[in-house]
Amino acid sequence: MSNNFEPIGIAVVGCGNISDQYLTNLLRFPDVKVVACADIDLTRASAQAAKYGVPRSADLATVLEMPDVELIINLTIPAVHASVALQAIRSGKHVYGEKPFALSIEEAQTITAAAAEHKVKLGNAPDTFLGAGLQTARRVIEADHIGTPISAKATFGYPGPDAWHPNPEFLFQKGGGPLLDMGPYYLTALVQLFGPVKTISGFGRRAQNRRTIGSGPRAGETFEVAVDTQISALLEFASGPIATVRFSFDEPIATRELEVHGTGGAIRLPDPNAFDGSVFVCKKDLNKNTPNEWLDAPTDADWTEFPAEGSAEGRGMGALDLARAARSGGTPRASADLALHVLDIMESIIRSAASGQSVAVATTCKVAEPLPANWNPLQKSTQ
Ligand SMILES: NC(=O)c1ccc[n+]([C@@H]2O[C@H](COP(=O)([O-])OP(=O)(O)OC[C@H]3O[C@@H](n4cnc5c(N)ncnc54)[C@H](O)[C@@H]3O)[C@@H](O)[C@H]2O)c1
Repeated sequence: MSNNFEPIGIAVVGCGNISDQYLTNLLRFPDVKVVACADIDLTRASAQAAKYGVPRSADLATVLEMPDVELIINLTIPAVHASVALQAIRSGKHVYGEKPFALSIEEAQTITAAAAEHKVKLGNAPDTFLGAGLQTARRVIEADHIGTPISAKATFGYPGPDAWHPNPEFLFQKGGGPLLDMGPYYLTALVQLFGPVKTISGFGRRAQNRRTIGSGPRAGETFEVAVDTQISALLEFASGPIATVRFSFDEPIATRELEVHGTGGAIRLPDPNAFDGSVFVCKKDLNKNTPNEWLDAPTDADWTEFPAEGSAEGRGMGALDLARAARSGGTPRASADLALHVLDIMESIIRSAASGQSVAVATTCKVAEPLPANWNPLQKSTQ
């Protein structure tokens, strides 16, 4: 096969905290070429361009006029995700954005409609479900190691990002909080395993109305908390399983759990905010156990390890998959429909918490095609 795949030109827009991970990874993928960095703060854009050897830096409007920029990687703060995405789409650029997709379903639907109108590809983080860890978990469940999934438990808790992020305010405003910040990893992983969510009951609280920046040049400054920082919810999936989820910036003890129980056993998944990590399976054989063993919790020895198989190159894998889809005419796996449904789940949790009523989720999405275990971001495509 001839090697005629032209690398897709990328501009990274938003050169803050997370841009280092994207720039490090995208520069190693031969199917994409980072040609520009942009930020509302031009010194940040030029500093990241200089650090990573990216040829140009500019403001968003200038970058959108560059003909060799085909794909915008939107790493701005949640409050401007939609406006940056819309400007890029209306300039005919493909867009891959960081989570959350937008601040509201209406904003998200405006973006998807614009992408359809301008015939550009649209995708969104998280792409961690494309990593070796969660892809292996999906293969293990599909190979029937735990029987039919019945329930899931997802928990993420810690004291909050005000301790480490140098500019943490956006993580405590609309578009932030533990649900919008960390929920996308856990909820996307669950939707990839079970399909769309049908009904939701949620509850929310906040432990503090003001927080203090804990590190960096602004340490000691305080700011207002505008969202709930303790969220619990029950999710009923259309395919049957029920999940219990909890997200917290209020808990002093850090927890990260993602577990699925089926008719034949249970599986512990790796951290869904990471691309790697083994999967552990515990099976119960109904015929071999005596009745009183049914109440015993399994010991560590009862869990069998399945090492992660696949690529774990990190953030940017979803953007690369989108870039390849832009060339081939395919559908990006970290798709806008998936991100929109996950946003709808989170919005529904908040609506349910505010109203005290269960909420029916209006949107739906398709589960992305699994990645072949030999999918390789470091290899140049041949078509
Ligand atoms: N920091 C992390 O560990 C992390 C991890 C995963 C995802 N994310 C997500 O990535 C996004 C960015 O997070 P961050 O931590 O890098 O934030 P950040 O505040 O460090 O960086 C955001 C950058 O966007 C720029 N910006 C703001 N408005 C802009 C505009 N209108 N046009 C161009 N640039 C603009 C800011 O100047 C800043 O440089 C968020 O959506 C966040 O949820 C962050």
